Amino acid sequence: MLDLRSDTVTRPTPGMLAAMAAAEVGDEQEREDPTTNELQRRLAELLGHEAALFLPTATMANQIALRVLSRPGGKVVAEERTHVLIYEWGGPAIHSGLVMQGLPGEAGRLAPEQVEELEDFGPGSVLVLENTHRSSGGRVWPLDELEAAAAAARARGAAVHLDGARLFNAAVAAGLEPAAWASLADTVTVCFSKGLGCPFGAVLAGSAETIERAWEGKFLFGGALRQSGVAAAAMLYALDHHVERLADDHARAKRLAAGLGLDPGDVETNFVPLPDAPGLAGRLRERGVLVGDLRPGWLRAVTHLDVGDEEIELAIERMREVVAVRA
Ligand SMILES: Cc1ncc(COP(=O)(O)O)c(C=O)c1O
Repeated sequence: MLDLRSDTVTRPTPGMLAAMAAAEVGDEQEREDPTTNELQRRLAELLGHEAALFLPTATMANQIALRVLSRPGGKVVAEERTHVLIYEWGGPAIHSGLVMQGLPGEAGRLAPEQVEELEDFGPGSVLVLENTHRSSGGRVWPLDELEAAAAAARARGAAVHLDGARLFNAAVAAGLEPAAWASLADTVTVCFSKGLGCPFGAVLAGSAETIERAWEGKFLFGGALRQSGVAAAAMLYALDHHVERLADDHARAKRLAAGLGLDPGDVETNFVPLPDAPGLAGRLRERGVLVGDLRPGWLRAVTHLDVGDEEIELAIERMREVVAVRA
């Protein structure tokens, strides 16, 4: 079975497992886990912030960020198909007492005017920007557009959180450092269980003061671990071995799109959006290919660490008949 549902389906590689087994560990809650401390130091630097915090999931990182940046009764505003608004179980309302407002966007992006026109948006509220943007098909925010949206929020006195669960994909696709986008936000989440191939793990970065407050959230949300260095070692391994290779995933996604008669120009990173049709996912499964949901009316085929050139050619062969005819 070719599993193209998501880049989260990867298994740790032998090299990653060896790094995990060899990890030097300590009690994370006492800030004594050397591998986790090293991960946090490297990520703060890489993301252009003073400090960083290891967390088990990107959802927890996003939710802690919102709690730290906001006040109950404030708003969280984002493009309407942003992960924090639709896939985090109402977390911003439940955990932080925030009013959740989605705005229509183009390829997951918001224009500064949309932020300027918001009602009841100011200190205590947060603008969330997602890069790459999942539900638009892994699209990348151009730096100047993200900067303009973030500046519009700041001009209102609101904070800015960047959900960069797939920020490394954006960086590799655009040929920019992750810090280029990350340093424009008050806080940034990056996730290691997606294209980077780790079993789990995310990092939240921000100012030293913000990250101190995020530590409280880590305890409050039950995300303060003990020998977390086992996970951090996998994440450090991924930083050293799995970032540049994301370019291969992107090239393979373009190849898949072209092979299916879709426009490779719509593929910016590792997602191939597929127009949905009744029973399409089931027919693909029967042919040995698993695809995932993207948004209503669209499915996705996602390339990742466990999909090589051969698998892509096989996927094209198996999918062409059912997908290309429709496209
Ligand atoms: C854009 C985005 N943010 C956050 C998350 C949440 O990640 P996690 O599963 O680590 O909580 C995901 C997961 O798919 C995502 O796509």
